[in-house]
Amino acid sequence: MKATRVYLLLHVLLSVGVLVHTFEPFTTTLVLGVGAALGRTIYNYLHESCDKKWIAFNATGLQVDLEAKLFGQHIASRIILKAVTGFMSNDNPKKPLVLSLHGWTGTGKNFVSQLIADNIYKEGMDSSFVHIFTSELHFPHLSQIDTYKSQLQQWIKGNVSNCAHSMFIFDEMDKMHPGLIDSIKPYLEYYEKVDGVSYRKAIFIFLSNAGGESIIQTTLDFWKAGRDREELELKHLETELSVSVFNNKRSGLWHTSLIDKNLVDFFVPFLPLEYRHVTQCVMAEMEAKGLQPDQNVAVQLARDVLYFPKTERVFSVKGCKTIASKLDFYT
Ligand SMILES: *[C@@H]1O[C@H](CO)[C@@H](O)[C@H](O)[C@H]1NC(C)=O
Ligand SMILES: *[C@@H]1O[C@H](CO)[C@@H](O)[C@H](O)[C@H]1NC(C)=O
Repeated sequence: MKATRVYLLLHVLLSVGVLVHTFEPFTTTLVLGVGAALGRTIYNYLHESCDKKWIAFNATGLQVDLEAKLFGQHIASRIILKAVTGFMSNDNPKKPLVLSLHGWTGTGKNFVSQLIADNIYKEGMDSSFVHIFTSELHFPHLSQIDTYKSQLQQWIKGNVSNCAHSMFIFDEMDKMHPGLIDSIKPYLEYYEKVDGVSYRKAIFIFLSNAGGESIIQTTLDFWKAGRDREELELKHLETELSVSVFNNKRSGLWHTSLIDKNLVDFFVPFLPLEYRHVTQCVMAEMEAKGLQPDQNVAVQLARDVLYFPKTERVFSVKGCKTIASKLDFYT
């Protein structure tokens, strides 16, 4: 990225030189005008702006990333690819895309959000059009809920006014105050405009552990029955998921009318990860770090990770979450 930018800058500077040279017989005003136009061009080259140069969805890229980098999540992969591709290739969506990702810690919810961002924004998660909110970080004090509400509404409105293709990620959605979630509801609706702003091209991603336990139970039942994990389908999880999500008093989202009003387009379950997925994570992490992927290291590390339930020891307690930091001790 950096190298490309330097190259572009040089390229533009050279063009300025050539142009100034060409325009020498003309008035200074003209040269200055050209200079200003080129100044803007340079600025646009270097500064992320809300246009096709910086925001261009790559469906193949997302597919390749999901296949190569996300492990053990055949259901989530499929839904995400379909949902995001469908939404991004629609020039006139009727509502913003709202995804709700559910599952145990370390199963790839944050990671998938990153893959989506990487394939929409040139700057990926560093894009100024991607916004992450974490309850504990951004909205920690219950007493200030009213301030948070208006602040959050202003942020969403301000950012979508700046760029329709904005993305908002809400981490730890289950710890979010219900009132806060209610306050963003108007933006998720089918409205053409809210206060003169259209939110229909925005993407909202909710991450939560809600429903994680029922996903684990279903996956475990499958495993115990000796069935292939890849045979698991959304329909096996859907009922359980919605029941546990609805009845979970702690998960604020679900008591609001988000579900009643069908504002969430896709519920995406993330399955607990097995030993073999942990080894895949290690191999991928080694590659990402520029190391030679080493099966021995992967096996060793995956063996040292904790698994549950106590008797069967099928699923990694922390999924692939601590792999990156652990790897330093093994290489
Ligand atoms: C889209 O992603 C594919 C696979 O990663 C890559 O080969 C291709 O160059 C990308 N296209 C664009 C326009 O970036
Ligand atoms: C956009 O959102 C960020 C929070 O991610 C906030 O700090 C910023 O003020 C918002 N921008 C506008 C123009 O409202």
